[in-house]
Amino acid sequence: MQAPEAQAAGKPRTVPVWRALPRALRDAHQSLVDVGNEAGGEVVRLGLGVSSPYLVTHPDHVQQVLQERAANYLRGDDTALWRSVRQLVGDGILSEGDTWRNSRRTLAPLFRPARINPLVDTMAEAIDGATGRLDKAAEAGTVVDIGAELSRLVCAAIMRVFFANRLGVDDALRIMAAQESIVTAMAPRLLAPVVPWWVPMPGDRRFHRAVQTIDDILLPVLRKALDEPGSGDDVLSTLARARNDGQPLTERQMRDDLVSMVAVTTETSYVALTWLWPVLATHEDVAHRLYAEIEDVVGAGPVRADHLPQLTYTRMVLDELLRLFPAGWIVPRRAVGADVLGGVRIDKGSTVILSPYATHRMEAFWGSDAESFDPERFTPERVAARHRYAYYPFGLGIHRCLGEGLFQLEAQLIVATLVSKYRFTLTEPTVPGIRVAASLRPRRRVELTLTRRESAVAR
Ligand code: HEM
Repeated sequence: MQAPEAQAAGKPRTVPVWRALPRALRDAHQSLVDVGNEAGGEVVRLGLGVSSPYLVTHPDHVQQVLQERAANYLRGDDTALWRSVRQLVGDGILSEGDTWRNSRRTLAPLFRPARINPLVDTMAEAIDGATGRLDKAAEAGTVVDIGAELSRLVCAAIMRVFFANRLGVDDALRIMAAQESIVTAMAPRLLAPVVPWWVPMPGDRRFHRAVQTIDDILLPVLRKALDEPGSGDDVLSTLARARNDGQPLTERQMRDDLVSMVAVTTETSYVALTWLWPVLATHEDVAHRLYAEIEDVVGAGPVRADHLPQLTYTRMVLDELLRLFPAGWIVPRRAVGADVLGGVRIDKGSTVILSPYATHRMEAFWGSDAESFDPERFTPERVAARHRYAYYPFGLGIHRCLGEGLFQLEAQLIVATLVSKYRFTLTEPTVPGIRVAASLRPRRRVELTLTRRESAVAR
């Protein structure tokens, strides 16, 4: 679908406040899809009170905002999301301008395929080694919270990449628990974007306590790394050796980048993978095909690096999972100057909301069955036939996710390991609703029991 041309270049259509706000409060995610569908991809203004942000859903416009005209659309810290993010991570890779550029220059090489791919077998072993608790749960028939278990597996997988052996797994898990508080404590602010940031809101104290916990754990580890940077190629050692204009990073710069990286890596990955199990429980055909592929390629395991290129259906399932459940569901920007998008005038200083969640579920780009789970959408032919930016779970342009490759690897390794070992029975076999938080979280825990697969028992 072509981007709609100007509705008589000038005033955009406004979804009136009394319609958008109650809908947004009831179901923030669905209301973005509904407004996007009703507007057919046109830029609209969400009547959410004084801030009245623009909603940008058409892939052409997404490309313009995030790529072609990125210099005009910054991560201003006056949106609820970025202000909260900034309070947690300070100034670093998640900011803008020179600080961001320096951080990106230091960090990007660490996540290139040439650096990550050789670590796959180490990651696979770490994941396999971390399934002991699940074995016990399978034996005892106890119910597990798969989200919590996945966060442990993600942690195990990436510890080497991030910290070599400078941080213990227990501390990493405490960081993740604090992060959980942060992501959910942000919800009241996301729901009430019109409340000025200086007005105290529920959740604020929990947010600040959790930030403190993270600092208490990370700062001593970071100071030690600064004293003894070593020659390791993990994120922490690399930051400890990094130079900006010949100067080492300050403790603050290092802390901000490290917290940013830990925050975006673990939360997004395990939350995304948590959605898989309810989806499999409600789509038997997909589950059978996925299990069959992993059985063929991996057998009883363990999973190895050379299995991954053969897991083509697994990859399609993961792509489709991130279409319907993109962990980074909302990507806000601030227009530094006035602009025109698809014929709609964007006021200087206004907030522009991009939402992979909305674009990924809109009928104009995905057909009338846009909301159904169908991995076949990711055959090479169908991908080629689609607008390139109808799908952007990892963002695009200058801020495109650094961790896309890492996620693809760890996700395939985790899914292949779990499926090669167990079968899963959900306590409540339906797809949960979505909780409003900074990432796309299920509204309730996903609980299940595990059964050890016969062929895996011998291992
Ligand atoms: C399912 C997993 C993930 C999803 C859905 C995801 C999504 C995103 C999105 C949408 C952005 C763009 C934000 C923007 O434009 O403002 C982004 C940026 C970023 N992601 Fe991810 N991400 C994931 C995993 C990871 C992992 C594993 C890492 C670890 C390296 C990572 C590191 C980053 C960084 C550093 C940025 C900021 C890049 C910049 O501003 O230059 N992400 N991610």
